[in-house]
Amino acid sequence: MASVADLVITGEPMADIGSDHALLPCHLVSEGHCPWAICVELGDGPYQRTLRAVSMNNLTHLIEVRQGNGLEALNPNEVKTVVLAGMGGNTIMDILKRSSSKTESFNRMVLQPMNALAELRYHASLNGWRIERETVVKDGDYYINLVLNPRGNQPYQLSETEMRWGPVLMRQVTEPVVRDYYSYQLDKFNRIIAGIPAQSGQRAQMQKQIYLERIKELEDVLR
Ligand SMILES: C[S@@+](CC[C@H](N)C(=O)[O-])C[C@H]1O[C@@H](n2cnc3c(N)ncnc32)[C@H](O)[C@@H]1O
Repeated sequence: MASVADLVITGEPMADIGSDHALLPCHLVSEGHCPWAICVELGDGPYQRTLRAVSMNNLTHLIEVRQGNGLEALNPNEVKTVVLAGMGGNTIMDILKRSSSKTESFNRMVLQPMNALAELRYHASLNGWRIERETVVKDGDYYINLVLNPRGNQPYQLSETEMRWGPVLMRQVTEPVVRDYYSYQLDKFNRIIAGIPAQSGQRAQMQKQIYLERIKELEDVLR
């Protein structure tokens, strides 16, 4: 949570989409990082949980909780930073696609997808959203935060390697946490390959080939 909080624009209102226990906005508002915030939740259960969390923190005067589907619950120009964290990458992409014109009204989008990073980076490039920062967080597992500038509208190209491993992260490969993240992925691929028997069928051998290519790609990134 702290890693995402650091990426929110200071002194400006923010919205937390899929807020659940409202940890992030409660932290940002009570620390004075943001003057006020909006939480958006979809289902009845999580919405009630968010309402309760904000109320228990005595922040109802500074945090508004709305029930709705993603960005649809926001009005244009209401907030500067929008955070979508702790959801699957495809859910995040669906939310962004559903309200694509609204994204132009934000100054920053902070995404912490649980998967489908390559697809999200591709989606950003298609929309011309510059990837301003990428950070790695190790909290048991590894999490990647993407900071996007949704003001651009000129599509640009990312190579497949950049989509998979991050155009910004790849340039920060000397940072220990970034190296650890890539090394962890490398180990994962090596373990998968070790589990494919030499006598396995054509499909398994094709899979093995793909993993071997990924390993080569990561070794090049790490060099
Ligand atoms: C795992 S929680 C993540 C909570 C918090 N953002 C975090 O990072 O720890 C994901 C939340 O997203 C909410 N969610 C999923 N799709 C949504 C949508 N389209 N609009 C609003 N909330 C959504 C779910 O109800 C769930 O509470």
